[in-house]
Amino acid sequence: MSLIAYAASLASTAWRVCVLIFLRILPTTLCKKILPPLWILYMTLWFFSPVAEKSSPLKSESDEKKPLPALPPPKSEFPLTAIILSLPTKSRTLQNLNFIVNALLLLAATEFVFYPFYDDAADVTFTRVGAVYPDAAKIVVRYPINTPNVTDNLVQVSWRQVPNGFEGQWQDGPVLSLASERDWVDTAKLDGLWPSTTYEYRLKNTTDVLPYPEHPIRFKTFPDPRLPTGSHFRFLVSSCTTPNFPYSPLQGRRIKGFDLLADYVWPAASPVAQPSSTAAASGPEAAATPNVTEEASSPEAAAEPVILPSASASSVAPAAPRPPVEFMMFLGDFIYADVPFYFGDNQNMYRQFYRRNYQSPSFRKVYERLPMFHTYDDHDIKNNYVGLGNDSNPPFQNASNAYRLYNHDANYDGNLNDTHYYEFRYGDVAFFVMDTRRYRSGPHDDVSSRTMLGDKQLSALHSWLGRVNGTATFKFIVSSVPFTSLWQMDAQIDSWAAYAHEKAALLDVLHTVPNVVVLSGDRHEFAAIEFMGPGRAHRVLEVSTSPLSMFWIPLVRTLKLESNETVLHSRVNTSADPLQEKAMILEEVPREKVLKYVPEGNYKFSAIEVDTRDLKHPVVHLELVVDGKPTYNLAIQGEPVSLQTPTTALGITVPQTFKGVLDKLGLLPTRWF
Ligand SMILES: *[C@@H]1O[C@H](CO)[C@@H](O)[C@H](O)[C@H]1NC(C)=O
Ligand SMILES: *[C@@H]1O[C@H](CO)[C@@H](O)[C@H](O)[C@H]1NC(C)=O
Ligand SMILES: *[C@@H]1O[C@H](CO)[C@@H](O)[C@H](O)[C@H]1NC(C)=O
Ligand SMILES: *[C@@H]1O[C@H](CO)[C@@H](O)[C@H](O)[C@H]1NC(C)=O
Ligand SMILES: *[C@@H]1O[C@H](CO)[C@@H](O)[C@H](O)[C@H]1NC(C)=O
Ligand SMILES: *[C@@H]1O[C@H](CO)[C@@H](O)[C@H](O)[C@H]1NC(C)=O
Ligand SMILES: *[C@@H]1O[C@H](CO)[C@@H](O)[C@H](O)[C@H]1NC(C)=O
Ligand SMILES: *[C@@H]1O[C@H](CO)[C@@H](O)[C@H](O)[C@H]1NC(C)=O
Repeated sequence: MSLIAYAASLASTAWRVCVLIFLRILPTTLCKKILPPLWILYMTLWFFSPVAEKSSPLKSESDEKKPLPALPPPKSEFPLTAIILSLPTKSRTLQNLNFIVNALLLLAATEFVFYPFYDDAADVTFTRVGAVYPDAAKIVVRYPINTPNVTDNLVQVSWRQVPNGFEGQWQDGPVLSLASERDWVDTAKLDGLWPSTTYEYRLKNTTDVLPYPEHPIRFKTFPDPRLPTGSHFRFLVSSCTTPNFPYSPLQGRRIKGFDLLADYVWPAASPVAQPSSTAAASGPEAAATPNVTEEASSPEAAAEPVILPSASASSVAPAAPRPPVEFMMFLGDFIYADVPFYFGDNQNMYRQFYRRNYQSPSFRKVYERLPMFHTYDDHDIKNNYVGLGNDSNPPFQNASNAYRLYNHDANYDGNLNDTHYYEFRYGDVAFFVMDTRRYRSGPHDDVSSRTMLGDKQLSALHSWLGRVNGTATFKFIVSSVPFTSLWQMDAQIDSWAAYAHEKAALLDVLHTVPNVVVLSGDRHEFAAIEFMGPGRAHRVLEVSTSPLSMFWIPLVRTLKLESNETVLHSRVNTSADPLQEKAMILEEVPREKVLKYVPEGNYKFSAIEVDTRDLKHPVVHLELVVDGKPTYNLAIQGEPVSLQTPTTALGITVPQTFKGVLDKLGLLPTRWF
């Protein structure tokens, strides 16, 4: 057989491998450099491939149209193997069948890359709830009008309390002014609501109730943070989504990670699908130091070791019902503006990527039922974006314009104008969401002057820490990129590892505050990390979860298991005689250490259950869900915090019917806050 036949076979195989990797494993931006030349090479070789003497080129062309029945393959060859492995062949029929397979792969790659262009989601209509307060909620609406020359549309929110209780009349809420220039999107704040109360809303124009949403959208206001009781709720956290990756043909609108998430939060009637309830394992030793216990979760996760002291293993309470999921935090890379292909610094393209996600039926199932709060990360702007605190730095203007319209405007208001970082509370639990992109300095500037957050944000974070130190039980700090420096390679320039100075100073302060948990994403892997400080410093934990629906890289492991740097940490000797004054043990421990590493899985999210009802034993139960299955559980025992909170909380104590009376009198709860 000739050299060309072997070369064609080789090119064909290389093409198949590359396309399959691109579509199913890693949608790398290198595709535009590798795939077109490979295809041209293969086409050329296929064209010049030698053909066995018997079959004329003319005949084989007609074969191509109905190849299978036309020619029984020669006995000496195994057609299926020959086609799958694209073995060198002189049969024109087999060559053509191979060509068809390769051409289908070309179509698939084209569909995947250019899908955002031909399905531009210009008509997508949606509404969702964003920030939820004890007395208010933010609502985003997109309602385009397709009549020519119409450039704006007024839509009004109409709302009522649920259950209908007192009257249950629909009330007129804020009016949203949707303009084509703002891509028909607007956000309004519905206020004057009661804490811990369920409401529903629908949309209307000046005359009628609009056909979308078909059923009113429900939400529940957050509890009054001044109540002396603790909290018990769940929220979800993840990051990174691309529709239809890993690729399947003609599934361009699917975001499987959101499908799996919806099945987890609202399981179908089948009890098998129900996520198993995990018993709260509150160890007797939990009081003095924060402690971390791995728990076995469910039959699926049986491989996980149960690291529980035998004493508390026997005292595990019967499976308690899990509290409702109250919101989801999405930590960036919501769109991939530059993967696999960057369409350029173009406002409409950025908006189109957001529209595309909101159009997805998978995402719709989630955002119509769950309030969502966002931050952005580099791919929402551009790979490894460094903002330098200069908004003129392209493509920030166009990228942040789309991010604000679709995601940020519905986040909590910042204390300062025009910032993308923000804070909020759920009962006695506090959150600070960082902006790690806009103000960061270049990773090659002098390390001592390098900043991740910028001065203003850093001082906002410090002032928040001071305020929540004694007023919140758990403090969650949200960073789009990992706080740990244990991830290697690209993470060493893009995550906090590159900002070691600022990180060390911040960590020193975090170690003075009990019950700090950092939430992050970005690495397309899951890890739980423990940070230890010197002496009796409080431990800090980080939980990094991603991707919700995107690639993970097999074989290459980039997480170091512990840092070289160590600290002398002192802890109570638990085996010492409990009647004696407890002796302290001083031990050298790594500054940062991996508690759990789960790299595999295209679809990951963490469900975090916060339980501070017993203020002496506050606890966070984390459940990692990978590809729809609960895979790992971690119990984070918090330290008791004596909260300094004012005692006059209103709302919970007001009977449901009386709230209606107060509403009628115009005594809105906002006035009491
Ligand atoms: C209001 O919406 C209804 C239902 O979609 C529609 O028939 C009507 O024309 C709209 N009215 C105005 C003033 O836009
Ligand atoms: C956490 O609790 C376990 C079980 O009681 C104990 O063995 C371990 O020493 C504790 N760790 C710390 C850091 O207190
Ligand atoms: C933003 O996008 C528009 C096209 O929509 C383009 O003309 C402009 O150059 C881009 N950049 C800036 C900074 O506006
Ligand atoms: C901000 O960036 C723009 C565009 O990159 C540049 O022209 C301008 O000088 C920068 N401004 C400052 C204060 O660095
Ligand atoms: C934010 O900007 C608006 C309008 O420019 C102004 O009215 C308001 O006082 C500003 N708020 C703060 C906190 O600076
Ligand atoms: C938090 O409170 C503790 C105890 O009062 C104090 O030592 C620590 O400095 C405080 N940390 C911050 C950041 O306010
Ligand atoms: C950390 O330890 C490893 C192996 O012990 C060593 O190869 C590496 O150079 C050390 N790194 C630093 C920054 O000290
Ligand atoms: C902890 O206390 C026990 C009992 O007093 C003692 O035997 C043991 O050596 C202590 N452990 C350490 C590390 O000091």
